[in-house]
Amino acid sequence: MSESVITSTPAPAARPEGVTGASILLDQVTKRYPGQKRPAVDGLTLEIPAGKMVMFVGPSGCGKTTTLKMINRLIEPTEGSIIINGEDVTRMNGDELRRKIGYVIQAGGLFPHLSVAANIAIVPKMLGWDKARIAARVDELLEMVSLDPAIYRNRFPKELSGGQQQRVGVARALAADPPVLLMDEPFGAVDPITRQRLQDEMLQIQSELHKTIVCVTHDFDEAVKLGDWIAVFDAGAQLVQYDTPERLLADPANEFVENFIGSGAGLKQLTLSRVSDVDLAEAIIGRPGERAADVLERITAAGHGHAVIVDDRGRPLQWPSRRQLGRMETISAAADPQLPVVGMRATLNDALDTMLVSSAGAALVTGRRETFQGVIDVGTVMDAINKAHELAAIEPENAPVGINTGSLQTTAAAGTGAGGEQAGR
Ligand SMILES: Nc1ncnc2c1ncn2[C@@H]1O[C@H](COP(=O)(O)OP(=O)(O)O)[C@@H](O)[C@H]1O
Ligand SMILES: [Mg+2]
Repeated sequence: MSESVITSTPAPAARPEGVTGASILLDQVTKRYPGQKRPAVDGLTLEIPAGKMVMFVGPSGCGKTTTLKMINRLIEPTEGSIIINGEDVTRMNGDELRRKIGYVIQAGGLFPHLSVAANIAIVPKMLGWDKARIAARVDELLEMVSLDPAIYRNRFPKELSGGQQQRVGVARALAADPPVLLMDEPFGAVDPITRQRLQDEMLQIQSELHKTIVCVTHDFDEAVKLGDWIAVFDAGAQLVQYDTPERLLADPANEFVENFIGSGAGLKQLTLSRVSDVDLAEAIIGRPGERAADVLERITAAGHGHAVIVDDRGRPLQWPSRRQLGRMETISAAADPQLPVVGMRATLNDALDTMLVSSAGAALVTGRRETFQGVIDVGTVMDAINKAHELAAIEPENAPVGINTGSLQTTAAAGTGAGGEQAGR
């Protein structure tokens, strides 16, 4: 079979700049397990764009893992084909295929009798890399997943925490720089704080590497946080909705998806935007040493309720109301330890938390070197939610196709929205 199929050397003509991943197409793929009445995966056609991270979510047993494992042919499809970068890999040598597809499973799936370095070196060794190149690559990867090579390369898996094992699992999957990475509930076995850190690292790594990543998760919030596209499946890998996180949250295809999203879709939407994405309100500025009456006059003229007192470097100190200013003579240089402050990089969700505990019902936003940038209030956040709804109403460009032949016919007959919408893409 062709060697060119999924090499990690970029093919500029076929991929957008900076993208090292490969496109994947599942073409009418069906998997029947012996002795099972219904197929585990039923006529699934799914496009996974190069360089994107696609999340598979859905109830237990709906066929997520089966679908994932058919991509590297750990499970052979009963019908249909898998096309990677335009070439059918369905009949390619499976072992060879798997050397070019990174695979990460829960708890890392490390070999317990091998050191961290030896675990990471498995595929490079099979590919015949020389010792020096392998050693350099191991260290480079350990750095990438935030493990100090000097400390960790010679440890054994049992000498690592769950989160560290998971990091080594990711490093191992990336060892030979494969264009495709498959992950099956990769962060399911670690505590929430470690999980959040691993997710952030994964986003960081992906922003540098632009792999094509397919990731199964049972955690919808994880799907929203990590995914460029989310595929919501029901039993038999029936694709219920294949959409951006924004559109899934703002416009779930049906009740099944709504239930899957769970309560607080609006709040989840707020984790998709950062303070830097919204317009901030301006404030009347006062400085220590000024007469309070002068500042009061300015905010009254502007129709504001508060003034922001900043120090000589522009950092906020106090946020007095009209009433508080009325009780002052001169503005002091004291810093209020309770000031509700958020950074520009905070999510709107974090900002809302801060606003809700502040007596002003708003928060001060600071930028580089903690300088005051403006005020964010609940109205701004509501505007952002409305804007997200408007944006979500716009059809995304280059939306990948996802259909099941079966569900297409059923939904068309039933006249419901979801499948029909998918079919239109
Ligand atoms: N090796 C197997 N033999 C028979 N049935 C299987 C096998 N693996 C999975 N299944 C069945 O296929 C369906 C899909 O399983 P799976 O892909 O593991 O689901 P998920 O990952 O979404 O939880 C389930 O009904 C499961 O019981
Ligand atoms: Mg599974």
